[in-house]
Amino acid sequence: MDGHTTSRMIPASSLFWIVAVVTATSASPMQFNCSTARQKVCEITNIIITEYTDVSEWEFPDHPDIAFGSHPLPDDSTIITMITKDVSEKLTNTQNIEMQNVSLMSFFLWEHLISLDVSYNYLSELIVDPSAMYNLKSLNMKHNRLQSIDFLKGLYKLRDLDLSNNYLETIDFSILDPAKDLATLKLFNNRIRTITTSFGDMLHLPRLTVLMLNHNQLSILDASRWQFNVLQDLFLSNNRLSYISMCEIQNSFPRLQTLYLDGNHWECSNLNSTVSQLHELNVKLVNHGSHNCTEAIENICCM
Ligand SMILES: *[C@@H]1O[C@H](CO)[C@@H](O)[C@H](O)[C@H]1NC(C)=O
Ligand SMILES: *[C@@H]1O[C@H](CO)[C@@H](O)[C@H](O)[C@H]1NC(C)=O
Ligand SMILES: *[C@@H]1O[C@H](CO)[C@@H](O)[C@H](O)[C@H]1NC(C)=O
Ligand SMILES: *[C@@H]1O[C@H](CO)[C@@H](O)[C@H](O)[C@H]1NC(C)=O
Repeated sequence: MDGHTTSRMIPASSLFWIVAVVTATSASPMQFNCSTARQKVCEITNIIITEYTDVSEWEFPDHPDIAFGSHPLPDDSTIITMITKDVSEKLTNTQNIEMQNVSLMSFFLWEHLISLDVSYNYLSELIVDPSAMYNLKSLNMKHNRLQSIDFLKGLYKLRDLDLSNNYLETIDFSILDPAKDLATLKLFNNRIRTITTSFGDMLHLPRLTVLMLNHNQLSILDASRWQFNVLQDLFLSNNRLSYISMCEIQNSFPRLQTLYLDGNHWECSNLNSTVSQLHELNVKLVNHGSHNCTEAIENICCM
């Protein structure tokens, strides 16, 4: 019981200390320390940063991997609404950041960052400097408030991108054209109605292996200008598709292995011929089964 009481006392007092430093704009430096809770990652809790926080006297640990907050464990002590340029300058040597579920609304990206997990926040974008050379390879922004992906423009080194569970409606895939290392792209659980490919003749993504577009509102998939030569898994389930062009599937995704089609508005005779062509190409059809419908082909509902 004593240990428990002590561990609850420390956060409360340091929280007071932070507030005191901010309001008094004291000149004494504020050093944040890693908790010993996690092995390789430096976890920092008990910290509040808003747009009004003066961080000029703050020091963060010089550590390559920092997690702010204790996600997935509950943590009411860590609130970071904004990573401003000033804060980012205090973290320039940090390569991997986790900042999940801390009420984040704005994040200023820095060049050394390789992996960023800002899932479960209120972000509508990342702040990027068009002249910077970003090294970001892994970006997890699931469960945020994204309505646009324009901020991805300069992120040429991306490999894994998770934008699932956001508010995206229309997106232009051309913005991904420079991201030649992109291997996984997760866009499920958005409200995507249209995907365009606005510039260039063809969009080549030569490393893309997984594309997740399930649980959106697509009624047409225009893949005619996509060249995803190593795409293996394509998730199209739970959209509003009535047909797909097998010609496009073959040309755009020549290595396709697994296709998810269930939960769409398939027209039965189209689906029938699509399914038999997919069998000929040895593409595996996967569905989550148990859809209650009157007509189905290989357990995929159609009408
Ligand atoms: C971090 O550690 C230093 C040295 O032990 C200490 O002076 C400082 O108060 C600690 N900071 C926090 C936020 O606990
Ligand atoms: C986020 O944090 C709040 C408050 O600490 C908690 O109630 C909620 O369950 C957390 N959400 C996730 C997805 O972890
Ligand atoms: C699907 O096509 C096959 C021939 O390829 C045909 O025998 C079968 O009746 C068709 N099924 C439906 C539901 O149209
Ligand atoms: C399937 O739909 C029929 C008719 O709409 C209904 O009577 C039946 O209970 C449904 N079955 C399930 C498992 O939902």
